[in-house]
Amino acid sequence: MPTCVTCHMYKGTHDVSQGITLGGASQGKFVGNEDTGNKQVKDPGSGIMMNGITKATFERERAKMLANCTLCHDRRFAEHKLGNADEIKRQSDSIAGEALKVIEGLYQDKLLDPMPENRPPNPLAGHTLVLTGQQLYEKTSQIEALFFRMYKFDLIQAWKGAYHANPDYTHWYGNAPLKLDLDEIKGEASKLRRLAALESKSGPVAKPEVTPAPAKAAAAGLSPEQYYALGVAAVALFMGSAMVLLWWITGRRREG
Ligand code: HEC
Ligand code: HEC
Repeated sequence: MPTCVTCHMYKGTHDVSQGITLGGASQGKFVGNEDTGNKQVKDPGSGIMMNGITKATFERERAKMLANCTLCHDRRFAEHKLGNADEIKRQSDSIAGEALKVIEGLYQDKLLDPMPENRPPNPLAGHTLVLTGQQLYEKTSQIEALFFRMYKFDLIQAWKGAYHANPDYTHWYGNAPLKLDLDEIKGEASKLRRLAALESKSGPVAKPEVTPAPAKAAAAGLSPEQYYALGVAAVALFMGSAMVLLWWITGRRREG
């Protein structure tokens, strides 16, 4: 079986970018008109910011990876499998891209809750909507939090699983959660828009303070000391009756 080194450090090379096409670290790459290097540009297919590579670069790097596969497999087999992985990457990107556009639409209509201007600024971009690469994962809106998980974990698992011939990861940790994410994001968007429609008629609804649930003692109308005393009494009562029962049973044994 191949190891990481077989495919990524062929003949001892330490250039681990050898043979990488669309499957580059994190968000990956797309085939466009130029090699953008480390500069990210918008993938016209999905709308996600990524590195672009030309078709010639794609073919050059793919040939290097195939040279590894053909140590053990037929070339057509390997070519076909990597081609499937490319397609899975493109289709997964477009699912995430759909969610991205839904959130951008909400931002344009000022419906994110809270909007970026009402929360700590992104250190790089300030009080504006930042999705994908430099997105923050705290003090954000629910729908952006959903997108973070979708983009950062489920999307990557879908296509990295495919490039590593792991159908379990591709399907159950990638594709299925990715589609659930999209439904959740669309559902949240729909609620935000319906709420906005209602508020446009009735005026804004005051935002309730979101606090943790009251402690059990307070919920029962007791002070913490009373609550503790009650707990001790309950345990004593239980232990006491258990001992009486034991005494009664063993007593009967002796009699019998
Ligand atoms: C059977 C060959 C094979 C093996 C074994 C393999 N990989 Fe990969 N790996 C690939 C292919 C194919 C790609 C995607 C290539 C492309 O983009 O065209 C990839 C992509 C990657 C990437 C993304 C590339 C980047 O620049 O970030 C990482 C990270 C990675 N592999 C890590 C590993 C690790 C860690 C192991 C061992 C646990 C491993 N791979 C084992 C074939 C392999
Ligand atoms: C060192 C030898 C070796 C190399 C190199 C190698 N493989 Fe494999 N590959 C195997 C072995 C062994 C299996 C397991 C075969 C089995 O279980 O029947 C396998 C299984 C697979 C499978 C699953 C096949 C199936 O029917 O489920 C795929 C897909 C695959 N390899 C693709 C690739 C690709 C693509 C590359 C190059 C990026 C590659 N392999 C490189 C040895 C290798």
